Amino acid sequence: MPILEKILAIETSCDETAASVWIDGKGIVSNVVFSQIKLHAVYGGVVPEIASRSHLEKIGFVVESALDTAGCSLSDLTTIAVTTRPGLPGSLLVGLCCAKALAACAKKRIIGIDHIQAHIFSACIENDVPYPHLCLMASGGNTALYMVHGLDSYQVLASTLDDAAGEALDKVAKLIGLPYPGGPEVERLAAQVSYKDFFAYPRSMSGSLELSFSGLKTAVLYDAIKRGWYDIERKLFLKGDDAAIKAQIASSLLVCIAETFTQKVRQALKQYPEARAVTFVGGVACNTYLKQVLEHCAREQGVTFFAPSPQYATDNAAMVAYVAQHKAHTDQFDTLALDIAF
Ligand code: KG4
Repeated sequence: MPILEKILAIETSCDETAASVWIDGKGIVSNVVFSQIKLHAVYGGVVPEIASRSHLEKIGFVVESALDTAGCSLSDLTTIAVTTRPGLPGSLLVGLCCAKALAACAKKRIIGIDHIQAHIFSACIENDVPYPHLCLMASGGNTALYMVHGLDSYQVLASTLDDAAGEALDKVAKLIGLPYPGGPEVERLAAQVSYKDFFAYPRSMSGSLELSFSGLKTAVLYDAIKRGWYDIERKLFLKGDDAAIKAQIASSLLVCIAETFTQKVRQALKQYPEARAVTFVGGVACNTYLKQVLEHCAREQGVTFFAPSPQYATDNAAMVAYVAQHKAHTDQFDTLALDIAF
């Protein structure tokens, strides 16, 4: 008789303390996330020392909440899964130490999970995504294209040569005085001006699948300087009170990112015609406009499109649990010697 898996998954790779429970036959039964955004917003980005201290404070509560919501106790579990790479070392260590302590005390098996792999399969939690498919992953720390053949078989086709798309959104947002993280705020402002392209920021001209976003951030800065909206000496955006100008910049930025994404996806589908679907994952995949544009692009190319719902797009432990259940079913366990990699 195969074991009925009940898995507790823990995710602490960056600034979200998260835990989730997977039960065979039911799927994800709890998904608890404590976001540290408010703690880091005053600094305009994630401060690693603050992140690890906050994980330490919250991890016990988050794990207990995930077990309570799932109606499980520690002894009911079969396996503990934890993100071990990549991420902030101090943050990863909090999750790993917690997972190891629980596994050792309750005599449970343990599995280490790659955070990127978890994101790549996050669209599969709620959807029956066919294989092989193309995956565009866009988060704050990563932007890359993958060819996905199955849960154990995926290859990176191209990644960003410099900044991630989310990083570009966050940096431009900071430049024009929007709060951290910039992505949601950029989306809100761009919607007010119907996603029009006011400033036609330069698109990446590279003929390869590789992505690049640092030039875009610089282009926004130079354009603002040229228009007299940015004082380079004082490092000050002079139109901070002008909501219309901020919305136009946000909208032009988003349109430029959307065009870059669709151009690369179209090119990848030409190069890899075996792809039966496109998935769009990572925190940036919360963006409704980008999802609509990519869905349209996929449909035009004759393939289906999937994106995780926002709760599974930003960092969460449900995506860790999803990959963990596959590893458990295929006997890919680790030992308590498990360590982080970053
Ligand atoms: O995957 P994620 O939660 O964290 C990691 O980087 O691992 O992604 C965070 C990124 C941030 O850059 C944030 O600005 C972006 O996702 N983001 C968005 C939206 N919500 C979050 N970007 C565009 N539109 C959004 N609605």
